[in-house]
Amino acid sequence: MFEIPVSSRARAISDSITLAITARAKAMRAEGKDVVSLGAGEPDFPTPDEVADAGVRAIRDGHTRYTAAAGIPELRAAAARWFDRQFGLDYAPEEIVVTAGAKPALTLCMMALLDDGDRVLLPGPYWASYPDIVRLGGGEPIDLASEPEQGFIHTGAQIAAAAREHGCKGVVVNYPNNPSGAVPTRAQVEDIVAACVEHDLWILSDEIYARLLYDGAEHVSPASIPGGRERTVVVNGGTKSHSMTGWRVGFLAAPREVAAAVGRLVSQAMGNTCSISQQAALAMANLEEDPEFDRRMKAFDERRHHVVREFGSIPGIRVAEPKGAFYALLDVREVCERMGCDDVGFVEQLLVDGLVATVPGSAFAIPGFVRISYAASMLDLDLAIGRIREFVASKMA
Ligand SMILES: Cc1ncc(COP(=O)(O)O)c(C=O)c1O
Repeated sequence: MFEIPVSSRARAISDSITLAITARAKAMRAEGKDVVSLGAGEPDFPTPDEVADAGVRAIRDGHTRYTAAAGIPELRAAAARWFDRQFGLDYAPEEIVVTAGAKPALTLCMMALLDDGDRVLLPGPYWASYPDIVRLGGGEPIDLASEPEQGFIHTGAQIAAAAREHGCKGVVVNYPNNPSGAVPTRAQVEDIVAACVEHDLWILSDEIYARLLYDGAEHVSPASIPGGRERTVVVNGGTKSHSMTGWRVGFLAAPREVAAAVGRLVSQAMGNTCSISQQAALAMANLEEDPEFDRRMKAFDERRHHVVREFGSIPGIRVAEPKGAFYALLDVREVCERMGCDDVGFVEQLLVDGLVATVPGSAFAIPGFVRISYAASMLDLDLAIGRIREFVASKMA
């Protein structure tokens, strides 16, 4: 029988691990197992009314046709104003491309920047999809080991040394960070940008969690630092801040030539972002007063405190306080040692025996750790914490 051969490029790509774990938890639930999932990086709040209503209206008003590939002009202009208002970034509408979420923005950016074999530095811990996203662009991902003792943030010198050693063209940074929740200070971002300027590196800055900050932390985009703008591509959007994960809409902001190149790739590879979602994103970007956002952040912050306090009180587990996003990294090295397994084994046993879904740190280039998402209800969090406490106690006994 004839079998269509799959390309080596496609064979080199794996399924998204977080989506796979979430699917596995769902399948176990369908079998009647009462699994609690702290796996998915998805807010449990509904899309805000103003945004959802704009989507409904879009259908009724006939916004159901092809649009300009890079996005409707109103949205590109609104996104430019949003970048300025929220993050002090100055972009012209032509420097904005609307994509079907942050993920395609990252992928198309890699396709626009990389020639075959170009190396890209990925400072750990990093979002699990980055290596495959670099490969999709024809590049080679290069890991830079995580620095837990430095609060998971590398110095410019560390980034420059690794980039020089491996001949990298650019670096992908993601702050607030998934999975660590780390948020660098302005001085730390300045230090990273200065190193990139000195060593001629471009920066792909994934800022999808930029509005999810705690304890007065400030989001500083590398593009806002002198010398940073011309070498940085910013990816952002309302996916996480406005519970729009399913709408598939996000923004890329970059110097004109790069934005134009990404726009060409959108037009040939993806087509315009869903016309309805673009109207919803327009409502999101135009929201000035946003009391619901503050309420969501208050809820995330309460959960963050709860998670840090509770996990911190489990003997064998250590947890650093996240400053942004909605994840915490649990250091389970001690428990793994007792269990005689690695973090993947820990996660597997916790799922099967403890009925809690989490994601192994290995997926984020930080073995020995486990990522939990606290974008979950207090009820689920408490259930999960209780089960993990019991699971770990049984292994440490
Ligand atoms: C760091 C990071 N970047 C990008 C994305 C993808 O976002 P989107 O749903 O907008 O494609 C995620 C989603 O989990 C993420 O954690």
